[in-house]
Amino acid sequence: MARLEGKVAIVTGASKGIGAAIAEKLAEEGAATVVNYATSDADAQNVVSRITARGGRATAVKADVSKLADIRRLFDSAVTEFGKVDVLVNNAGVYEPRPLEAVDEHNFDWQFDVNVKGVYFVAQAAAQAFGERGGSIVNISSVASLSPRANLSVYSATKAAVDAFTQSLAWELGPKKILVNSILPGATETEGFAAMAGSAEMKPNAISQTPLGRIGVPRDIANVVAFLASDDAAWITGQMIPVSGGFR
Ligand SMILES: NC(=O)c1ccc[n+]([C@@H]2O[C@H](COP(=O)([O-])OP(=O)(O)OC[C@H]3O[C@@H](n4cnc5c(N)ncnc54)[C@H](OP(=O)(O)O)[C@@H]3O)[C@@H](O)[C@H]2O)c1
Repeated sequence: MARLEGKVAIVTGASKGIGAAIAEKLAEEGAATVVNYATSDADAQNVVSRITARGGRATAVKADVSKLADIRRLFDSAVTEFGKVDVLVNNAGVYEPRPLEAVDEHNFDWQFDVNVKGVYFVAQAAAQAFGERGGSIVNISSVASLSPRANLSVYSATKAAVDAFTQSLAWELGPKKILVNSILPGATETEGFAAMAGSAEMKPNAISQTPLGRIGVPRDIANVVAFLASDDAAWITGQMIPVSGGFR
């Protein structure tokens, strides 16, 4: 039997990049999967089509994770469609490297609203939706949380906040049978990474600092999420797990 058969998963930010690969992998492992996204209707529908074409179950739900009313709608839609929620992958995230002098209030608030406020209140909604069955929350952080580099001060701080949530909520939610872990990807080939200013120079630099000699692909991250979402990981909580080819 597939590892996630019978489970319902919500993956935030799943219209492209790492989130899309996670949604496809969880569905491949048997989970009915909610593909959340903010703006990219066609991309999200394509992810759903790829899943259903392989016999999986999925639905797309447009919701901005930085807005509490949207989060409520996301969870209501998941329960209406699939009856319950067992797994949350808090993947939606934004990044735009800037030096200190170029960070303005909008850039700062945008990154904190999506990466910190969004992750927190989506986790709150998940804990409520899991109920007495418990569940698993996987937060997609970044190696930037462990090794904040130049021009990534705001982004790194958002991911350090995510890891603090992971550790605190693991204690708080453990008694409710809810696991909370962070995955820390290194540089990973995604639409967002390709569009990021400076990514062309960043890539060879990241490769040279990676023992396994390449940057990641979304599937590298998705495989570890599927493990953490499964009962095979039932004894793991409160952990920060770099998935980065050894880069840190
Ligand atoms: N790529 C990397 O090198 C790397 C490294 C370390 C960590 N990460 C982390 O991995 C996660 C995914 O990164 P990625 O590179 O795959 O990103 P990406 O290619 O830019 O895709 C971002 C996804 O997040 C969604 N999203 C953005 N804002 C949202 C919001 N307010 N509400 C709901 N969804 C929203 C986007 O939806 P729309 O398309 O609809 O806007 C899209 O599906 C992020 O948390 C990122 O910080 C990435």
